[in-house]
Amino acid sequence: MVNRPGRARLRALASTSETDKKDKSVAAKVLVLSGPNLDRLGRREPEIYGRTTLAEIHQRLAEQASRRSASVDCRQSNHEGVLIDWIGQAADDGFDAILINPGAYTHTSYALHDAIKGCGLPTVELHLSNPDAREEFRRHSCVAPACLGRIAGFGAGSYGLALTAVLDHLVRTRLR
Ligand code: DQA
Repeated sequence: MVNRPGRARLRALASTSETDKKDKSVAAKVLVLSGPNLDRLGRREPEIYGRTTLAEIHQRLAEQASRRSASVDCRQSNHEGVLIDWIGQAADDGFDAILINPGAYTHTSYALHDAIKGCGLPTVELHLSNPDAREEFRRHSCVAPACLGRIAGFGAGSYGLALTAVLDHLVRTRLR
């Protein structure tokens, strides 16, 4: 008979990916930004964005980060200039990396592109949905060329995957 892991073990495996184990510790401060309308997650078009709220996502990220001795500072704004100010200030404020879901500014904001490019920090673009599989106007990202990479299409899980990706990147670059 095949020995299958129990439900509790499966849940533990799902919440702690291989790369989030303690032995991949990295003392890092990550700024997590969400743009316009993402404050309404959970109620906004749940068939596309799911029912998890941004507060729940932020809580999960904090727990995930602490398992690797890292920390997150999670913020949301509906205003382009506020996001730009936070990005510009990030290195001076001691952040090591940025995760950003720019919402619809992804498709319109060259100012965000310039802010990311100029901030000097590794930045990961992330989306709950997969913009490439949606309307035509979502297929262009102004910020992508300024970013290290992009995670999209995994619902609320995109935030956790992006955190894993950027922490792994910091581990690799610090080892060099
Ligand atoms: C989004 C995708 C964008 O196209 C959209 O404007 C959003 C959310 C996402 O997370 O899937 O506001 O960034």
